[in-house]
Amino acid sequence: MSTNARRATAGGAALLGAAWIAFAQPPLRAEEATDVAMGRELFDSIVPACSTCHALRATGAAGEVGPPLDELRPDAARVEKALRDGIGSMPSYRELLTDQQIRALALFVAQASAG
Ligand code: HEC
Repeated sequence: MSTNARRATAGGAALLGAAWIAFAQPPLRAEEATDVAMGRELFDSIVPACSTCHALRATGAAGEVGPPLDELRPDAARVEKALRDGIGSMPSYRELLTDQQIRALALFVAQASAG
């Protein structure tokens, strides 16, 4: 076997290894990724949209009614609570969103704001 061929084989094995690691992640990872994408979508599409009232750099949102989310950096639990119960002049989304959608939005906002 030439040196080049050996290198190519080693590279292939490394690639396979990487693919295996990617697949071997707990299933939650894939679910989380889907949720974050769904949350991103909802941030602008739910009515009233979060972006109307909040700034969040990752989305280009520049609303000024509520606190800028990049500064607040809420964790997912805090976002979830605000969404379920409403807070101050922010309406509750309990009737507008499914549990899964609320979790997705919370996950997205927490990740996008590094909360
Ligand atoms: C009508 C304007 C408005 C909309 C729409 C809105 N918010 Fe808010 N939001 C506010 C205001 C105002 C506050 C601050 C309330 C207070 O602290 O009294 C707030 C607070 C928050 C907080 C902080 C809660 C805390 O514990 O301090 C989070 C997180 C949040 N909003 C996320 C969202 C998300 C996600 C959406 C979209 C689903 C959204 N908001 C839609 C106005 C809005």
